[in-house]
Amino acid sequence: TPLYIYDLGEIAYRFNTLSSTFTNLLFIAFSVKSNNNAGILRVLAEIGSGADVVSGGELEKAILTGFPPSKTVFSGVGKTTDELDYAVKNKIFSINVETEGELQYLSEKHQGARVAIRVNPGIEAHSKKEIVTGSKWSKFGIPVESVIDLCNKFKNKLQIIGFSFHLGSQIPDPIHYQRALDRILPLLDCIPSPEMINIGGGFPVNYDSETDSFDFIKRLSDITSQLPLPVIIEPGRFLVARAGILVSRVLYIKRMYDRTYAILDAGMNDFVRPALYKIRHRIVKVISKGLPQKTYSIAGPICENTDIFDPECEIEELKPGDLVAILDTGAYGYVMSSNYNLRPRPPEIVVYNGKHQLIRPRENLKQQQELRLKIFP
Ligand code: LLP
Repeated sequence: TPLYIYDLGEIAYRFNTLSSTFTNLLFIAFSVKSNNNAGILRVLAEIGSGADVVSGGELEKAILTGFPPSKTVFSGVGKTTDELDYAVKNKIFSINVETEGELQYLSEKHQGARVAIRVNPGIEAHSKKEIVTGSKWSKFGIPVESVIDLCNKFKNKLQIIGFSFHLGSQIPDPIHYQRALDRILPLLDCIPSPEMINIGGGFPVNYDSETDSFDFIKRLSDITSQLPLPVIIEPGRFLVARAGILVSRVLYIKRMYDRTYAILDAGMNDFVRPALYKIRHRIVKVISKGLPQKTYSIAGPICENTDIFDPECEIEELKPGDLVAILDTGAYGYVMSSNYNLRPRPPEIVVYNGKHQLIRPRENLKQQQELRLKIFP
């Protein structure tokens, strides 16, 4: 401990649920930023997923783990020219452009490249501020009012295959996709032969409870089934959040004035969402011993006040040495981990049909190159 464990069966089940719910689907592009464990990527590629990537590193890993470039889309506000060259060379489905500068570069260096325009629909989708991307104040995409001019300027030099948008994460209601589409559909007239509309990800997971209602995706699929073109969806969290847990050991229990801390061997460097977004993930004791419930502040070992997984967690009485699991950590968990406090990143294990396999071992920081350097000898 600490270690991440992922259930591949859960991911496949959710992928198949999306595939069968959406009737008007060109393909699903798994959002690689949410989890880039190679075991997970291989399985998703094998069962037919495409990939949504946001860097040259993610694009390379997607290709190496078997995603077809013809089902790979590349978004991002700050793609470098090297990354754009690499994407064109690999003949991916679309580069989702977010600035005029990108269009300019591609039209000069890679005439005829396949691009989609990522539109910022400028609507408020009422999710948490940190994870909203389709609002007027957000840096993402191209504002609706600039799209027609840009299409006219570049439509003879680049192959503009449609529009993409991404409203943000944990979108509370599918109605917001309808609101965005209402603004984007009229723009279709400005491109000669549109192939698709990419509606992004953002399908929510209910972190407070054990189950999700699939009502959201059913209603969203009703909306997309009315569209004149097939859609691409870019789910990340919906596919993998539920499939992951972070297992950690209780190091110490200590009473401090008005509260009792359970100090874990996992910290905010291993899993940063609670510290960064002020949200809670459910925490459970791995092996119940039938003890009474108690209230703990569940904390990590990092030297920061924000290194608290749950300030008031109701959980069966804990003792040093007990294992706990932080639930629903399959999305934006390992991928956002760091070496803060010079701690190695945890290992990652996948399980399927009663078998388990280590995919990524615990990081070994002792091999750091810099230790061997002489400083200004
Ligand atoms: N497509 C694009 C263009 C995106 O930027 C994202 C996520 C997704 C798809 C997938 O969104 P999802 O379906 O997973 O909600 N670190 C934050 C989430 C940041 C999401 C960034 N973009 C968190 O831990 O909540």
